[in-house]
Amino acid sequence: MNPDPKAYNDNNDAQRKGAENLFAIITKDLGTFPKFETVIDIGCGSGNVTLDFLQIAKCNQLIAFDKNETMVNFARENNKSNEINYEVADISEDFEKLKSDINLTNEADLVFSVYCLHWVEDKAKVFNNISQLLKPGGKCYLLFLYGSDLFTYQDQFIQGSKWSKYFPNYNEMIYSVAPFYKHLHSNVEDIKNNWKKTLETLGFTDCRIIIDDEKYFFKEFSVFMGAIESVCHLNHFVPIPEREEFLKDNFEFLRVNYNTNYECDKDEYELRYQYCIITAEKMKTTIKEL
Ligand SMILES: C[S@@+](CC[C@H](N)C(=O)[O-])C[C@H]1O[C@@H](n2cnc3c(N)ncnc32)[C@H](O)[C@@H]1O
Repeated sequence: MNPDPKAYNDNNDAQRKGAENLFAIITKDLGTFPKFETVIDIGCGSGNVTLDFLQIAKCNQLIAFDKNETMVNFARENNKSNEINYEVADISEDFEKLKSDINLTNEADLVFSVYCLHWVEDKAKVFNNISQLLKPGGKCYLLFLYGSDLFTYQDQFIQGSKWSKYFPNYNEMIYSVAPFYKHLHSNVEDIKNNWKKTLETLGFTDCRIIIDDEKYFFKEFSVFMGAIESVCHLNHFVPIPEREEFLKDNFEFLRVNYNTNYECDKDEYELRYQYCIITAEKMKTTIKEL
């Protein structure tokens, strides 16, 4: 994923709606306007969701990081607040590097993440890093995309069109940039059990994993296009001079085939997807100390 930060910032209403739901769970669990010393936001993107967090909680320090430097620069300019330090860092890095990249001095009371972790294949590494970012008794609230039937339509579009020439090993190529495609062919319960076991082995307790269906209604088709274009992982494989035409063909295919109740360009356009929410607490006494 390599989006233009301004386009993303202007088109991430669906992600902000998801963040609102995640923040509602935080408020329900921890009370209205909870106070924290240090909070970490993983994959902060353009920063407007990071800023939204300060509407529901108070914290002395909010470290928000993203592996995309252009996103971080945009966030620093456009979504700043005294409490927030935006940093460039990758959640799948080795912990010592991650810790130094985000200038972590105090372990966090809370780690949250909104629609980032589906881009990272090695969830065990992510959970391990989150465990080390947290102080004992600290909590994590993670929301990410699990799947969508949109991807099945994207598959059909690519494999049945002239664009297939740029995707010779389709599955491997897609998995390499968008590991969440694998969920299309996996058993949900197996994945949940696997993640829960990994979290518990790493010393997390009270692990809750919810995978559920959701719909988001875009005001009209052009708004849907803007949102998809801002996070589209398929573009990457198409030479730059042809990307505009590729997107045009892709959207025409989706307009006709994906949302069959849709009648005119001013109709609300429905996106169907599954999200995953993981909440867990780092044990107050670590296993090593027992
Ligand atoms: C869909 S955006 C979500 C941004 C923001 N959290 C929001 O909800 O609007 C996903 C972000 O995750 C970032 N990202 C992807 N993989 C990452 C990784 N391994 N470490 C840190 N950030 C990552 C991307 O650069 C992108 O900015």
